[in-house]
Amino acid sequence: MDTAIDTKALEITPVSGSLGAEVRGIPLQDATPADADTIKALLLEHLVLFFPDQALTPDQHIAFGKLFGELESHPNLLFGGERPEFFELHAAGGEGAIADEWHSDLSCEVSPSVMAILHMVKCPDVGGDTMWANQYKAYEQLSPAMKEFCEGLTALHDADPHGRADRMAIHPVVRVHPETGRKSLFVNEHFTRRIVELSHEESKAVLGYLTRWAASPPFTVRYSWRAGTIAIWDNRCTQHYVLNDFEGERVIQRVTVMGDHPEGAKPPRWDPALRTLSAASRHDRQLSQHLKAKASED
Ligand SMILES: [Fe+2]
Repeated sequence: MDTAIDTKALEITPVSGSLGAEVRGIPLQDATPADADTIKALLLEHLVLFFPDQALTPDQHIAFGKLFGELESHPNLLFGGERPEFFELHAAGGEGAIADEWHSDLSCEVSPSVMAILHMVKCPDVGGDTMWANQYKAYEQLSPAMKEFCEGLTALHDADPHGRADRMAIHPVVRVHPETGRKSLFVNEHFTRRIVELSHEESKAVLGYLTRWAASPPFTVRYSWRAGTIAIWDNRCTQHYVLNDFEGERVIQRVTVMGDHPEGAKPPRWDPALRTLSAASRHDRQLSQHLKAKASED
């Protein structure tokens, strides 16, 4: 028997012109693999989904997450306890777990996350909204010359903001979504440190431009939370940002689906831009050390 939810029975309300939709009519605590297929299809279309008025226990949340793939512990957060794949994060009065820089989750990892499933448990009456930005649009609205240039580039991402500058990965600046085949921009303010094929100075200018462009208002949605809302985002073609503008308490629970492998639109067109020894070559040290370590692994 086909148990797939008929999307006609669902109420799907887009919440911006670029990405995001609210979905009503599907109780997530009873979701089946067929429901997960429906949700995946909606996610590919809308990039971030919001399910208001849900109530998942931690175990139901984990079970729901496992419908989408393998869940993994967050390597940069020391929470977990008996459920290592489940995180509860607290913030209040402008401090705590507030992701107030644009990022895609764990882009500092060789295999970043595929998607995240977040349960807003407690939130202030006003403030603490989250924004997401559509990175397909960020790529598609570049000029043809800039698209072509960016497709030949890769970038170094690191976990320096989490005190782990030694955790690094190089990813394409333009990636191809494994399911839709669409190209998207894949650099972010929080984790992306350097464009490999450009000098330090050039990288600062180009990366600064691209990370600002990636979060341009027309590419975004801003979502005001209510407790009991579950959000799911596709981490491969979006980035997000939390507004640190609230006084009260904000508690989120989340699980993360792993297994992503960013594939470039094209292979890098140029060699890494590293200087020979000079005073300014200190800016190349991190990239140089990473490339050496990678070469010795291969
Ligand atoms: Fe995040």
